[in-house]
Amino acid sequence: MIHLKVMKAKNPEEVGKLAADQFELAIHAKPACVIGLATGSTPLPLYRELIAREKAGKLDFSRVRSANLDEYKGLAPDHPQSYRRFMQENLFDHISIKPENTIVPDGLAEDVDAMCAAYEKKIEDWGGVDVQLLGIGHDGHIGFNEPSNHFTQMTNEVKLTAMTREANKRFFSSIDEVPTAAYTMGIGTVMAAKKIVMVITGEDKAEILYKAFFGPVTPKVPASILQFHPDVTLICDEAAAKLMPQ
Ligand code: PGA
Repeated sequence: MIHLKVMKAKNPEEVGKLAADQFELAIHAKPACVIGLATGSTPLPLYRELIAREKAGKLDFSRVRSANLDEYKGLAPDHPQSYRRFMQENLFDHISIKPENTIVPDGLAEDVDAMCAAYEKKIEDWGGVDVQLLGIGHDGHIGFNEPSNHFTQMTNEVKLTAMTREANKRFFSSIDEVPTAAYTMGIGTVMAAKKIVMVITGEDKAEILYKAFFGPVTPKVPASILQFHPDVTLICDEAAAKLMPQ
């Protein structure tokens, strides 16, 4: 826990700005840096801010490489709810990052083991993730690593829990359309990132924030493993920080 840096912001927009500062620093220090990216509602203010900063000439994504955490199994890249499409619409289509420098697990992979191994290899060939962005699920998941009896190692296929499918059904026309499985970087992949930036907003995340960073380290709360990472910056709003020890 000695390595945890906490930044508290007033609201989600400010969380986005503080998180953008972290990525700006990383890209200025290393223009071809490798950033790990996440989907979900929490990163959206950050993505808006990154787009605005590149348009304002403060940032340059033309040499940046990015690897996303996860993708639904069975969804094509252009499916309206695929995470590839989410990234295109909310970030990639608006910045100068090169398409070949963005990777998202292939939801339609026929040989799953080969796809997962190739995903790991690509990240390794790039020299590893410099800064990994993470959100957190209400059950403590990071990527699609759900509560379990062990910490997963590498990019792999996972079954989605009822809680996660329920949380994500707001994007689909019915719960039956929410995929039952996904591909995700493993906990080992995430822990190998040199730096982690976790964004958490909203009072509904206050309890899981507390459990993840101030409770026991256990695979029942996958994000709790971050307590063992040497460089974690937690950026949260006041609502999410409600239960945090002062
Ligand atoms: P959210 O998702 O940002 O939409 O809450 C976070 C997550 O499930 O990892």
